[in-house]
Amino acid sequence: MPDRFEITHKDVFGRIGKLDTPHGPIETPALLPVVNPNTALVAPKEMRQFGAAALITNAYIIYRNPRLKEAALSEGIHELLGFDGPIMTDSGSFQLATYGKIEIGSAEIVAFQRDIGSDIGTPIDIPTPPDVPFERALRELNVTLERIWEAAAFCGAEMLLAAPIQGSTHLDLREQHARLLSTLNADVYPIGAVVPLMESYRYADLSSVIMACKAGLALNKPVHLFGAGHPMMFALAVALGCDLFDSAAYALYARAGRYMTASGTYQLNDLAYLPCSCPACAGGDPKLTERELAEHNLWVSFAEINTIKQAIIDGQLWELVERRCGYPALLQALRTIQKNCAPFEAIEPLKWSFMYTSTESAERPDVARFLIKLTNIELTGRVLITTNRTQTRDMEHEFDTTLLMKAPFGPYPQELAETYPIGQSEVPDPDYASIKSAVRNLIALIRSKNVDATFAYDSTWNHDDLEKLSSYATLLPL
Ligand code: GUN
Ligand code: ZN
Repeated sequence: MPDRFEITHKDVFGRIGKLDTPHGPIETPALLPVVNPNTALVAPKEMRQFGAAALITNAYIIYRNPRLKEAALSEGIHELLGFDGPIMTDSGSFQLATYGKIEIGSAEIVAFQRDIGSDIGTPIDIPTPPDVPFERALRELNVTLERIWEAAAFCGAEMLLAAPIQGSTHLDLREQHARLLSTLNADVYPIGAVVPLMESYRYADLSSVIMACKAGLALNKPVHLFGAGHPMMFALAVALGCDLFDSAAYALYARAGRYMTASGTYQLNDLAYLPCSCPACAGGDPKLTERELAEHNLWVSFAEINTIKQAIIDGQLWELVERRCGYPALLQALRTIQKNCAPFEAIEPLKWSFMYTSTESAERPDVARFLIKLTNIELTGRVLITTNRTQTRDMEHEFDTTLLMKAPFGPYPQELAETYPIGQSEVPDPDYASIKSAVRNLIALIRSKNVDATFAYDSTWNHDDLEKLSSYATLLPL
């Protein structure tokens, strides 16, 4: 089978790609609005104007309603919704998680999805909630696996297969399940049962779950984050390697009077001014109707997808993630990623620029990766590391090597001054976080070599961690 997913640009784990479906390609990252044929606040056929290339709907809701079922079977799902682009269908797993039980077997609902002409079909996976005992997560995972294998028989050229990854918050199970499913060569890999994590703002745990799934998955497959619909976390999720999102949030938030932005949510009633000029907000009157609020939520969601795509092309995705993670729970997620960034170091493509946008930048994968570059340089004998060369030029002849210092990266030889990241970085004067990172890299370098080091520094480099450094180097205040 030819690969249906083609990747054209990459940054961090994020990528721009194209997924071929029977009703045309979906450019990723993509947001698929959830449409409910019973209660559409914004009609499916209107979704294109906001930027939606594809939709997702729930096959179980259609199946359960005799009128909709009959219409879907006779006209097809595209005709029923009035949308001729790709349509993905979900299976009723969410209803299973909410009500504990549904009246249909997985094979039956997958066959129904095929019969109504869905482009991407989903079996009834079991969305095991977070924090359950390992045994339950494993038991339910095995049921999900069986159903995915069973569904594969119904999928092919006419309907692509979505193979959901479950495993609750057991990261080893998530990774194993992803690895097993990779051998099936499904078309889309949704990460399931993350809605409860997002609802309770557990973005750090969400990030760990995504990273565990990605560790087990073939990297050339599109990944869907099931139920993720808030634009403030799209950049983070894309940077971790998610390609598809679905959103019922635009409508659910509108119903609750909640106004989305890429950096958080306002209660519409609290807004005296509208921080947006989309067509729904353009008049400036903050008294939006529920329908206008849903439209605004769609506009900002799709604008954020475009912002992310441009950031990928510019090699600036990590900078965008940092700007989006001002909210405490997201900041926690960013730190979790930075602590576990080893896999990024192997695959993050070379970047052309590094902008220090906040103290979080001090912990970027590029800073850790610079240390690897450093430990490759040869160093012996007496080494001077200086923060201010004009003040130390007179003493350089006493040393075998002189290294310069730049926060947050650390020491570097003159030969690296023009190369990435030293040469291509925009960094303000050193601050507490950036000095900390630089000193950490300096200590790591000294420890990896057998050298007699002297650190000559001016007063802008005064820092608590110099005491740690004094165990490895002679300190020389300038
Ligand atoms: N929608 C939100 N979460 C899930 C999930 O875990 N599985 C399926 N099939 N749909 C979902
Ligand atoms: Zn708006």
